[in-house]
Amino acid sequence: MSQRIVYLNGQYLPIEQAQVSVLDRGFLFGDGVYEVIPAYGGHLLRLPQHLQRLQNSLDAIQLVNPLSKDEWIEILQTLLTKNQGQDQSVYLQVTRGVAEQRDHSFPDAIKPTVFVMANLLPAQSKDELAKGVAAITVDDIRWRACHIKAIALLANTLLRQQATAAGAAEAILIRDGLVTEGAASNVFIVKDHVLLTPPVGPTLLTGVTRDLILEQAKLNGIDCAERDIAEGELTQADEIWLSSSTREILPVISLNGDAVGNGQSGPIWNRMIDIFQQYKDVLRTGAE
Ligand code: PDD
Repeated sequence: MSQRIVYLNGQYLPIEQAQVSVLDRGFLFGDGVYEVIPAYGGHLLRLPQHLQRLQNSLDAIQLVNPLSKDEWIEILQTLLTKNQGQDQSVYLQVTRGVAEQRDHSFPDAIKPTVFVMANLLPAQSKDELAKGVAAITVDDIRWRACHIKAIALLANTLLRQQATAAGAAEAILIRDGLVTEGAASNVFIVKDHVLLTPPVGPTLLTGVTRDLILEQAKLNGIDCAERDIAEGELTQADEIWLSSSTREILPVISLNGDAVGNGQSGPIWNRMIDIFQQYKDVLRTGAE
């Protein structure tokens, strides 16, 4: 196996040698933000949108972006070439950095910590994906700033673990009777041939995959809308999908142990996964 190379604060290093201080505010407070960007055949999907969302997250936590767009691109591309894999996802995180004392308030003039790594993104065939996954619904116990892609993910990990313990792939979160998103994904439903997803706002992360699905649905004549989805509509949906940069578009075929629709991936998912596959194939040629 070839060595895994990561980026840390200006250096490319074998992952074993990449070390961060125990006084890093990311470690002590979860004080930082992150992005996950998929790359197909070495081409990053929707890079401008990911970098814009990173900027939005940094602005929201009052952290100055430590790198220019060109510097980010250089690092991301370098890691894709230094690491193995036809398809990869790049994880990047920026924390507020290392302070001398543990103090909740922001310290003056410290340097943010920048860490980036590439991970393999295993290709899954349509047949495999079409088998679908199970999901459960759980109460959305998270804070009121879920539009920030914060590294503080304790609530998300607890919620995902509830799903895992129940033998499910994802927890679909319900706040005040409405669907927000998954523990690490966005949620779509299909009802009477219309594709629906909750509107953006502080209760959910504006997924780049979500936006791509909406864009492609419109381009391909699939009826869609961004509107609130009541828990009752979720349980009565003809189709349920999850979307994220690493899971792409997954059909949910069972919810809380009950079949979704006829218990198989649905016709609209079938169309959308072909559209998405085609989109990736074009991206592989470098022509997004
Ligand atoms: N998470 N909502 C949450 C809470 C997420 O964590 C994610 C993705 C999404 C989907 O966003 P996108 O389509 O831009 O990946 C929605 C990443 C993959 C993660 O934490 O690993």
